[in-house]
Amino acid sequence: MRPYKALMIVSVLCAPAAGLAYMPYYPLKDDRSDRTAIVTGATGRIGVGTCHWLAKRKVRVIMAARDMQKCKLIRRELVAYTGHKAIACRHLDLEDIDSINAFAKRMIEEEPHIDILINNAAVKELKEKEITKYGVEKHYWVNFLAPFLLTFRLMDKLKGSASQTLDSRVVNVIGKPKTFWNIQLDDINFDKRKYSGKEAYRQSKLALAYFTILLDKMCTDSRSFVYVFGSNPVRKWIAESEVRDHSLTLLEKFQLLFRFIYTIEADRCAQPAINCALHPVMNHRDYSGKLYGLFNGFWGWGGADAEKDEVFAKMVWNHAIETLKLAPENIERMKKMKQQQDLVAKAQEASPSPVDDTTAASGTKEVLVEVTSR
Ligand SMILES: NC(=O)c1ccc[n+]([C@@H]2O[C@H](COP(=O)([O-])OP(=O)(O)OC[C@H]3O[C@@H](n4cnc5c(N)ncnc54)[C@H](OP(=O)(O)O)[C@@H]3O)[C@@H](O)[C@H]2O)c1
Repeated sequence: MRPYKALMIVSVLCAPAAGLAYMPYYPLKDDRSDRTAIVTGATGRIGVGTCHWLAKRKVRVIMAARDMQKCKLIRRELVAYTGHKAIACRHLDLEDIDSINAFAKRMIEEEPHIDILINNAAVKELKEKEITKYGVEKHYWVNFLAPFLLTFRLMDKLKGSASQTLDSRVVNVIGKPKTFWNIQLDDINFDKRKYSGKEAYRQSKLALAYFTILLDKMCTDSRSFVYVFGSNPVRKWIAESEVRDHSLTLLEKFQLLFRFIYTIEADRCAQPAINCALHPVMNHRDYSGKLYGLFNGFWGWGGADAEKDEVFAKMVWNHAIETLKLAPENIERMKKMKQQQDLVAKAQEASPSPVDDTTAASGTKEVLVEVTSR
């Protein structure tokens, strides 16, 4: 027998054993048609799993997605698979403040109540550094600032629903923060340090964890609860060709299989989010503001120690407010700079003699420095 086949068999045997330690399922038969839930990143792996479990419990699901075609296809499959029709696709591009505002406005106007917001969308470990049109590093924007803004836009609606149904919940999806994760508020954009996709991802998720801790403290006067769901790594099926790949060393092949054994299907990874969003036991302040995972239920805060880090959490919060407050006016300034540049370019086209474009170029740089140095 070839070694990879033997390892595949071992992995299949190990999976059910690991399954014994899973967090218990929230009963499938429960009818929760009284709830409306928004799931961002609904077209992603854990997003689809989350929508699937919500639909099984007859929750009204709002799939928030940037790709409507993909969303509609997934919706159709979910309806066919679960028989639950109260699933809607709504456009939300977290890279665009206008889209976040339009989405929130529509939700507030259209939906009689919103009981659950699951901030699940994310970008992960981008190879090259990307800066959004607001001048902020992309992980930090999409994974933290955008859900921060969206949550605030929907907070009154969520609290309003809580006063009717006595229970509304925000669930933020992160991994488990490690002690070595860190946020450099003076260098969010990796201008002073070498860019690393891993570091940028961790920085954004740690910020989301701090946000959750403080948001929970803000909600003590109402029946709103805030949870963090620390997902386990999602399993990627290993194709036989990958195992056969002769360019891989034996150690790399073992790593591939190790990853296969200790990772979990996306659908199962979504399970703690469902517990956080729906479990009746978790309708209690004692459970709110904490981090949960698939194994062992409550995980503890790991690298984001709620008590120890509260001062820093407040700094992250204030920094976010500053960044979001100033972002729109910076966009206006950027638009003007762009218009200036276009005029210079047109003038250059019209006259072959060199035109001095230093004003426009230095202007743009000035704005970027202003935005990125915050
Ligand atoms: N996968 C893991 O092993 C793992 C481990 C720990 C934590 N997590 C966390 O679990 C969550 C879900 O992970 P996943 O593996 O399901 O991720 P995924 O498959 O990559 O899905 C990410 C989702 O976010 C959406 N998204 C990205 N940028 C967006 C934007 N600008 N506007 C709107 N939507 C945007 C994507 O939309 P498109 O479909 O249009 O691309 C996609 O639906 C993430 O928060 C992740 O950090 C995952």
